[in-house]
Amino acid sequence: MNLADYGIDMWDTDKIVSFRKTLLAWYDKEKRDLPWRRSKNPYHIWISEIMLQQTQVITVIPYYQRFLKWFPTISDLAHAEEELLLKAWEGLGYYSRVRNMQAAAQQIMTEFSGQFPTTYDDIRGLKGIGPYTAGAIASIAFDLPEPAVDGNVMRVIARLFEVDYDIGDPKNRKIFQHIMKILIDPKRPGDFNQALMDLGTDIESAKNPRPEESPIRFFSAAYLHGTMDKYPIKKPKKKPRPLQLDAFIISNDVGQLLLEKNTEQTLLAGFWSFPLLESQFKHQLDLFDQNKEDVLENYDPKATFSQNYQLHPDWSSETFPAVSHTFSHQKWHIELHSGQVETESVNQSATLTWVALEQLEQYPMATAQKKMLASYLKICNQKKA
Ligand code: ADE
Repeated sequence: MNLADYGIDMWDTDKIVSFRKTLLAWYDKEKRDLPWRRSKNPYHIWISEIMLQQTQVITVIPYYQRFLKWFPTISDLAHAEEELLLKAWEGLGYYSRVRNMQAAAQQIMTEFSGQFPTTYDDIRGLKGIGPYTAGAIASIAFDLPEPAVDGNVMRVIARLFEVDYDIGDPKNRKIFQHIMKILIDPKRPGDFNQALMDLGTDIESAKNPRPEESPIRFFSAAYLHGTMDKYPIKKPKKKPRPLQLDAFIISNDVGQLLLEKNTEQTLLAGFWSFPLLESQFKHQLDLFDQNKEDVLENYDPKATFSQNYQLHPDWSSETFPAVSHTFSHQKWHIELHSGQVETESVNQSATLTWVALEQLEQYPMATAQKKMLASYLKICNQKKA
């Protein structure tokens, strides 16, 4: 690849050396003391890097510590029970991350005799590990001069070189990867990558950058040319699709709640949930081409629930605050309905069960379900008070 073809003016060797020195001197003084930075164990680095994708450092720290307590070795992770695994990730979201981690741990057990692989290509070949994570582990744990290019690093680089290519477009990643291959300090690649991550999440953040404080401002073309506002180039993301759902919080005569395990290979596979129905009107609109109001008027979630579950609860007259939850591509709006049935009317199974309130903690429940529970309990407690 020729960077000049992309309008990028690469520095000469002296400037590159000076840049490394400046960045690393700043890192040595200012680096954040994070639990995974006290380890060079590739297993630990791996866990931290997977958790840190889409999740902030401050949130990750307790999850990281608990995960290592529950699964201290690769072998423990490879052999973990699904429920405990999901419990360890509960609330972090993007649950395929932890499923992939377990698959990769099993791969390490069978293909690498339980030893974490030590080359970039072998690491990259593990399930769920893309070029960013492979670069982070290779550089931090094994001192290999591999870039770790995520959105934060791309933002910093885009400003340094006034890169006129959208950082949100996956095909442009190679430009940033190429620049980083040249810049990275071969003696301290892990620190070099992490210094850029620290800069990108704070002083050079997307929302509130403080360019005057940046230790590398005098290397930055955008800073020197007064074009910081223009870089990085990033097209706005598509909005998450709104989805209307109804959730059913059904209790029995001894106060247990009905939970269902999500068996479909969807968003929240393996998690327990209050029975949940996607409102049908959107679907019906496509089928019958009726107008929305008619369909909405005719859609009766409680009747649909009764039909699907063969249950006929005494419905509560209380109204519960609706719940919203946003995933990367869907925005759920959930109406809650509560009712009571007799214990015997439910055929319990591996995927449908009664759970006492105090036992709920033992079931992996995703954040959306926890919000439903909170809304339900709020009204119940008000009634009791
Ligand atoms: N974000 C992703 N990886 C990180 C790391 N190693 N340190 C701090 N923030 C990060």
